[in-house]
Amino acid sequence: MLGARPFHFDPQVGSTNDVAREWALAGAPAGFVALAEEQIAGRGRFGRFWSAPPGTSLLISVILRPRVSHARLPRLTMVGAVAVAETLSDLESGSDISVSIKWPNDVWLNGLKVAGVLPEAIWQGQTMSAVILGIGLNVRVDFKGTPLEGRATSIESAAGLAVDRAQLLAHLLQRIDYWSMRVEDPGLFEAWRSRLITLGRHITAHGEKGDLAGQAVDVDDDGTLILRADDGTIHRIVAGEVTLSG
Ligand code: BTN
Repeated sequence: MLGARPFHFDPQVGSTNDVAREWALAGAPAGFVALAEEQIAGRGRFGRFWSAPPGTSLLISVILRPRVSHARLPRLTMVGAVAVAETLSDLESGSDISVSIKWPNDVWLNGLKVAGVLPEAIWQGQTMSAVILGIGLNVRVDFKGTPLEGRATSIESAAGLAVDRAQLLAHLLQRIDYWSMRVEDPGLFEAWRSRLITLGRHITAHGEKGDLAGQAVDVDDDGTLILRADDGTIHRIVAGEVTLSG
């Protein structure tokens, strides 16, 4: 499953991103993966908690050591979202399942969130020494009766079939390896953009400028979202999240 890849496994841990960070600071190479069956302090974006019952997900954090400028960091977000989307794309053939990405990096199955990506950079002075690419992928989480019902899903509930988590992990790591070695490749942007469910939709963007409603017109290859607000003004949203409203 992991072959010669260096890894660290914990049955239970605070956050795999923290484990991978410690290993990165100790010199672990690119491709190193920290994984766990359960996190008790799993982090989502914007300081949210990422929770999953033990053994129901892939909870991984991969060390990347890309040579990219600060402005290109969102390309690492693309690596995570595209790698997950491509791993799940096998489910699309011969079924009514569609895999999409909600800007910037939520992966959706049939309009419900199935995975989240949390890249965290490690800075040593002015130098970025590594990026920890954290991914939580719901494999058999049952969201029925939880506050996330109707917003989140897992592979097995969407596809109605049993999934081998070891094979899924191997496939996902292979796609992360592939794209993390091609961070500047225009193909990465094209793969990300082509799956963005956000484009052309009426949305509310929650970003550094507060809440802004309008149409998602386009994205640029740094991952910035171009929004035409309802008053006609054009805005560039570099970071944040969106809700789809039309
Ligand atoms: C999001 O908010 O959508 C991002 C969620 C990222 C969760 C994963 S689970 C593995 C890794 N370790 C963490 O603490 N968070 C990420």
